[in-house]
Amino acid sequence: MAEVYDAVIVGGGAAGMMCALTAGRRGRRVLLIEHANKVGKKILMSGGGRCNFTNTGTTPGNYLSANPHFCKSALARYTPWDFIAMVERHRIAYHEKELGQLFCDESSKLIVKMLVDECAAAGVRIETGCSIERIAHDEGDSGFRLHSTRGNIATTSLVIASGGLSIPSMGASGFGYELARRYGHNVLPLRAGLVPLTLSGKHQERLHDLSGVALPVTASCNGIDFSNQMLITHRGVSGPAILQISSYWQPGDDLRLDLLPGHDALDWLLSQQRERPAAELKTVLGETIAKRFAQRLCEVWLSNKPMKQYNLPELKQIAATLSSWPLIASGTEGYRTAEVTLGGVDTDEVSSSTMQSKRVPGLYFIGEVIDVTGWLGGYNFQWAWASGHAAGLAV
Ligand code: FDA
Repeated sequence: MAEVYDAVIVGGGAAGMMCALTAGRRGRRVLLIEHANKVGKKILMSGGGRCNFTNTGTTPGNYLSANPHFCKSALARYTPWDFIAMVERHRIAYHEKELGQLFCDESSKLIVKMLVDECAAAGVRIETGCSIERIAHDEGDSGFRLHSTRGNIATTSLVIASGGLSIPSMGASGFGYELARRYGHNVLPLRAGLVPLTLSGKHQERLHDLSGVALPVTASCNGIDFSNQMLITHRGVSGPAILQISSYWQPGDDLRLDLLPGHDALDWLLSQQRERPAAELKTVLGETIAKRFAQRLCEVWLSNKPMKQYNLPELKQIAATLSSWPLIASGTEGYRTAEVTLGGVDTDEVSSSTMQSKRVPGLYFIGEVIDVTGWLGGYNFQWAWASGHAAGLAV
């Protein structure tokens, strides 16, 4: 005998739990299936253990998707303030770090506990360490018959909330993408996003011993730019500015760094020349950008002499290099360290108001498995909450 549910949700992450508690509150019989030994593992590790659970400045413009309009409806119907209200109801203390990014004061465990408690209050059954082995659904069937490692299940709605491919050690799997393809959905090319970039050859040799050095930059690629810190690593570069631009970069694309963000480089050099004619370029630069990096710049890419010895064409050349320094990345660190997976289930075949498949009635896709990817800064969780909520109201 199969157990019967109104909705079975595969994936006990951010989107899955939000969908489950929303549907459960509506009196739906809900089963949440998670193949890992506990739910919410990515929430636990997020934000350095403090979970950057939303961003108060969330707009559709903070997302990458082949259809930039798709995310609008769900985001408008479940806003950061809706999630904040739940956080406050559970008396979880939080703070804004920067740029609208909200973090728990204490621990991301509190966010997982809140979601699990809300699921319990809404009568949701959660099965961890459970997988779907087979799905039976023929065209025209009104529901799905599932063979799970815990027995047979029948459900009217099947919600795929299995997330992306990043951090396989945390339970990430290609389950959702494979299932989508099996039911005729197009899956847009997948690649790692919000990920450190790697350098190779002479580009890596010139920087790798500066590992640990951080400096503010504006990173630009394909018409988008982000101003924030860059961190030099053993393998290449990371830090918020690089993670952000990595989602817009693909091998071969021109990636530039403004190493004097907020300054007109030539004006700045001319004023330094006027004010400190005897100081060397590396000294002047080292007081504005990280000293060791400034030294390396002068050794490899610029030159070094007292400011008064530079003529105008030379200063113009230095300004051009400083304001548009080419970063020749060889690749990314991949899914091992990426925060998100770009691409995914094509939004053309999914309803933007309910997240239901336009191909298979009763099948839903939510969260990261869909081709909607947020910037760094709480936007990805906000998409998980909003898309989970939209489906939770529909199943
Ligand atoms: P999520 O990955 O959360 O959940 C999917 C679940 O499905 C997992 O529990 C997985 O085990 C399960 N699953 C997979 N296959 C299955 C199968 N076959 N059967 C059953 N279960 C299956 N975002 C943000 O906004 N703020 C932040 O601070 C961070 N920080 C951060 C840090 C790190 C290190 C990473 C890797 C990512 C972030 N993110 C983030 C991104 C954020 O974690 C991510 O976008 C959301 O968790 C996506 O939510 P989903 O529910 O779609 O997937």
